[in-house]
Amino acid sequence: MARYEIYGGTPLRGEVTISGAKNAAVAILPATLLVNGKCRIENVPDISDVRILLSILEEMGADVQHGEAGVVEIDCSNVTCTCPDPELVKKMRASYYLMGALLSRFGRGKVALPGGCNFASRPIDQHIKGFLALGADVDETDEYVELVPGPNGLRGNRVSLDVVSVGATVNIMIAATLLPGTTVIENAAKEPHIVDLANYLNTMGANISGAGTDTIKIRGVQSLQGGTYAIIPDQIEAGTYLAAVAATGGNVLVKNVIPKHMDCITSKLMEMGAQIINYDDSIRIRSEGRLRHTTVKTRPYPGFPTDMQAQICVCMTLASGVSRLTESVYETRFFGYCSELESMGADIQINGKTAIVTGSDQLYGATVCARDLRAGAALVIAGLAAEGITFVKNSHFVERGYEHLIEKLTALGANIRRIED
Ligand code: EPU
Repeated sequence: MARYEIYGGTPLRGEVTISGAKNAAVAILPATLLVNGKCRIENVPDISDVRILLSILEEMGADVQHGEAGVVEIDCSNVTCTCPDPELVKKMRASYYLMGALLSRFGRGKVALPGGCNFASRPIDQHIKGFLALGADVDETDEYVELVPGPNGLRGNRVSLDVVSVGATVNIMIAATLLPGTTVIENAAKEPHIVDLANYLNTMGANISGAGTDTIKIRGVQSLQGGTYAIIPDQIEAGTYLAAVAATGGNVLVKNVIPKHMDCITSKLMEMGAQIINYDDSIRIRSEGRLRHTTVKTRPYPGFPTDMQAQICVCMTLASGVSRLTESVYETRFFGYCSELESMGADIQINGKTAIVTGSDQLYGATVCARDLRAGAALVIAGLAAEGITFVKNSHFVERGYEHLIEKLTALGANIRRIED
């Protein structure tokens, strides 16, 4: 166990380079199982979720080689295992993409139910609905999901999702890639990492169109070949640094971003009073640290991301006036961090799906506990902005998704260190 010790109150200044997108990486790495030959994946973030996935693939028989920073070469040609180590699978959420990958490559697989951040009930019924539509027989228990070909075999089909789900869209897209026939996913998620996964699979020889719209068409191909692919920058990591500068004040150039992906976040920060300048692949943010209240409702992309809810909430606690923050993807997400922010002096009333945040001039250092990845990131921002010392316990949650957080913040002038307990 480790915690962060943060001496708050220093404005952030300088430059920070954003890493590859976690939620693209955790989809692309399992999808290397579909490829015959070596995949060179660039811009892979060095975070614990990625390390766990690479261990799972290695343990299944993949050849995994680490190249220069951010480069991983993976060759799954010799993998025969269809039952990945359940103990490793349970350590993270996105290991459920192994279900789609094994179904696509071997027509079968037995995968333990995933773990990961438990800020809400996170059902996988839409993933299962997709696998069934593709012709699989599914045995789902409290421990695992087992997939085998159904009586009529596996083939492409039309799947209309009942809810817009990133995970189900990814899993069905991966599963359908090597199946005969055409699959159409309706009501698909449109997040940048969905497009990135489709681009990766197409680079290796898949035939996927429509990613980024709500209808994705996957024409099955017989095989994929090795190749090179660079993962897109992390929208949420970039948003987290932007929110940190908005809250602490300062002037930072956030490099290696796709500004278009950031519009849903930067538009809100501008409404709150931060100055934003977009360049081709970077964003400059300037903030006096004095913010105005706003209204935010989280939605699937291109809406304001639920994964930025907690970080924008910290900005609201430091804004003049009363802000309203409505969560429409995961209702219970507020409970991961609002009480911790209250112990730092924030005034937050939760009323169903909406948090009413009455801003104040100052937060105060306290000992707080991260309960999930984004909640932990928000508490770090609060600690950076607060007067006095903040300890953020359970830093391992944050390390699931933020590469070199301490180094990057220190380079921006923050006074933060990691203490191993
Ligand atoms: N849902 C269902 N049934 C399903 C799947 C989802 O009812 O079978 C519901 C969920 O309960 C939720 C909504 O649909 O209300 C959206 O869930 P989604 O499936 O999109 O979430 P996910 O795939 O489990 C991914 C990200 C999350 C992010 C959400 C929403 C990955 C690995 N995880 O989760 O990221 O919050 O999409 O954008 O891509 C994070 O990075 O911190 C994180 C939690």
